[in-house]
Amino acid sequence: MSAKQFHITTFGCQMNVHDSQWLGKSLEALGWAQGTEMDADVLILNTCSVREKPEQKVYSHLGRLRDLWLRNPELLVAVGGCVAQQVGETFFARFPYVRLIFGPDGLPMVPDALARLTREPDLRMSFLDFTESFPERDAALAEPGVQRQAYVTIMQGCDNFCAYCIVPLTRGRQRSRSSGSILGECRGLVDRGVREITLLGQNVNSYGLDSKSAGTVKEPGFPTVLDAIASLPGLRRLRFTTSHPKDLSPETITAFGRHQNLCPHLHLPLQSGSDAVLRAMGRKYTLDNYLDLVDGLRRTRPEIALTTDLIVGFPGETDRDFQLTLDAMRRVGFASSFSFVYSDRPGTRAANMDGKLDRDVKAERLRVLQDVQSELSEQWLGRMVGARVEVLVEGESRKTSEDLPSCRGRDEFGQTVNFPVPPEAPRDMIGEIVPVRIREAKKHSLWGCMEVDG
Ligand code: SAH
Ligand code: SF4
Ligand code: F3S
Repeated sequence: MSAKQFHITTFGCQMNVHDSQWLGKSLEALGWAQGTEMDADVLILNTCSVREKPEQKVYSHLGRLRDLWLRNPELLVAVGGCVAQQVGETFFARFPYVRLIFGPDGLPMVPDALARLTREPDLRMSFLDFTESFPERDAALAEPGVQRQAYVTIMQGCDNFCAYCIVPLTRGRQRSRSSGSILGECRGLVDRGVREITLLGQNVNSYGLDSKSAGTVKEPGFPTVLDAIASLPGLRRLRFTTSHPKDLSPETITAFGRHQNLCPHLHLPLQSGSDAVLRAMGRKYTLDNYLDLVDGLRRTRPEIALTTDLIVGFPGETDRDFQLTLDAMRRVGFASSFSFVYSDRPGTRAANMDGKLDRDVKAERLRVLQDVQSELSEQWLGRMVGARVEVLVEGESRKTSEDLPSCRGRDEFGQTVNFPVPPEAPRDMIGEIVPVRIREAKKHSLWGCMEVDG
């Protein structure tokens, strides 16, 4: 029998990206091969439900697969992730070619389930239960020396129930992974040549503080785990995401001073600059609390790049509230931000709130906010000109400079840097960390020159 071909389409956050990477490696370990969507026998959609748009994309994508299925009735389609958890088995009724539905906690069972489904064409399966503890899965490690950047999940779910957010409903309660398996995975990755690790969770700062932890092994807090990982010999770069301002502890802030391999970049979602809106969102901090954290971070690591998430048009947001968000952005000077128009999500508190705003008002606020961010990002990038940064090379750049081939990568601040490859540079630089002097700031990225003698 020839090897099965599979194709994974991923929507959503880094947790989903990482889950898909794990699934891909696990299916390859079964002897299956990655294929294109047109050719594959098994199609997997890993979905996101955080706003209405990504949810709608799932239905339209599944609708388009109907033609492929009509041409190849043996096509096997699986839907996983947050929309699968939210919508459940109704996918079976709407899309006859969907034969597996799995929520985020069901992922570890998916490789075996897919293998079985290919053998039993009349079977359909679903994994929609939440597990009691962190859904540990077999390691799917790459060949030594191949992978230079890796994600490591340290927790599943979220206990915060921010008024607008569906994530606690789709990913379940917070369950911290055991510190032993986290460290074991990180050590294994560094031994195989990984240079940069990003720790993942919906709210990494509350690692170990699960509300349901009674009876389970007590884990140390986030700063302890962070210290242990940062101290692994050979680990060049460490990052973590996402942080909730209410749980960002002084020990985590000072870790940026203790560990030079902890990259000077923090993504710290503010959501709104208005205390009234923050209260309605249930975020449990004020703008002043947030600005105090920013001061602490800048005292510890003055050059740190701060990025954020912002929502415009939360129910009841007045024009004055919105102006407070713009003021806050300017006061912090975010290097970049993700900004979203508020979108009703089923089962959340905000969906039932009064004071919903007109679409046009929300769209206009988003436009204004994004203009302010463009200004701030340009200022931030402009200040980098002349600086010497360390770039972890991710690939060849589509752009060239002075007719030399160019490389693209990320510096320690998380910014994209392009640079021409000097003729005397080693041939294959992908995965290397190289010093680059920044020469020019573009709208969203930087150009520099490699410093060959370092
Ligand atoms: N756990 C992370 C990320 C959650 S989802 C955190 O707490 O920061 C990523 C972002 O999506 C959120 O930070 C928020 O800005 C945005 N978001 C979540 N729900 C939303 C909704 N209903 N409408 C618009 N944006 C939303
Ligand atoms: Fe959603 Fe809030 Fe949890 Fe983030 S902290 S995942 S925004 S409920
Ligand atoms: Fe989306 Fe689920 Fe991540 S809703 S943002 S994929 S946790």
